Amino acid sequence: VAADAECVAFLQWCLPRLGLRWPGFRKVRRTVCKRVARRARSLGLDGLAAYRARLEAEPGEWALLDELCRIPISRFWRDRGVFECLRDEVLPALAATADTRPDRILRAWSAGCASGEEPYSLALAWRFGAAARLPRLGFELLATDADPVLLGRAARACYRPGSLRELPAAMRAAFSPAGPLLCLRPEYAAGIAFARQDLRREMPAGPFDLILCRNLAFTYFDAETQRRVLAGLRARLVPGGALVLGRHERLPDIGAEPPLAERRPASGIFRLGGW
Ligand SMILES: C[S@@+](CC[C@H](N)C(=O)[O-])C[C@H]1O[C@@H](n2cnc3c(N)ncnc32)[C@H](O)[C@@H]1O
Repeated sequence: VAADAECVAFLQWCLPRLGLRWPGFRKVRRTVCKRVARRARSLGLDGLAAYRARLEAEPGEWALLDELCRIPISRFWRDRGVFECLRDEVLPALAATADTRPDRILRAWSAGCASGEEPYSLALAWRFGAAARLPRLGFELLATDADPVLLGRAARACYRPGSLRELPAAMRAAFSPAGPLLCLRPEYAAGIAFARQDLRREMPAGPFDLILCRNLAFTYFDAETQRRVLAGLRARLVPGGALVLGRHERLPDIGAEPPLAERRPASGIFRLGGW
């Protein structure tokens, strides 16, 4: 208990300096506290007070601490209702618009893509949904994350079966077994590019028809950073484009027009200019 209280105090001190916020970390603090304790030990430091002193003496250590604060949790078809809605309603609507543009490409961005579970789920929602009806429409998906280890896993595209538990049965056909893992067949990864980017500092140029920003900015980033990121996301949406948040996330109010209107009932799926 004492160790937990000490770590909570440490996180409350350091997170704001990284553009992050304590409430987002409350539930995952044990993971982060364990990593921080291990880091302090590896530096030969005795406890968090000594580690804090090290951070104050050595600005370079902050980048390492920042890495320790990344939460890699994800899974395929996370929040199934969201992906069903994307497959059955949102992607077909966005595709119909994209199909009228001269370049005929539907463009999507998954920001904070972890090991690829989210972008591959979206690609499967497309392929097993509207794609067949719009064979001439291209599909381009950019997936970004700050963590190179996770991006490496995303490129390999092999997962433990548990990660696919929520995926509709028909979509399992997109994977082939490799030992204990299930690997996405390469044809389903076509059109998907991965890039290392820190969402607090950089964003792709866009514009995008669809942006997934789930369980990252609007959970872990501090209020000011959330507002800045939201302004950047909005600026990268085409008119009528959609933004998807995590199930428990709220958009900060930045008073910008046109509004990002949530699809009802509460879905975490927003559309620029309304539905
Ligand atoms: C909890 S996971 C969410 C994954 C996926 N979006 C989902 O909802 O299942 C958060 C992801 O954000 C990444 N991340 C953390 N901080 C980041 C940052 N500043 N910029 C970009 N990605 C970051 C982590 O590496 C991790 O992969």
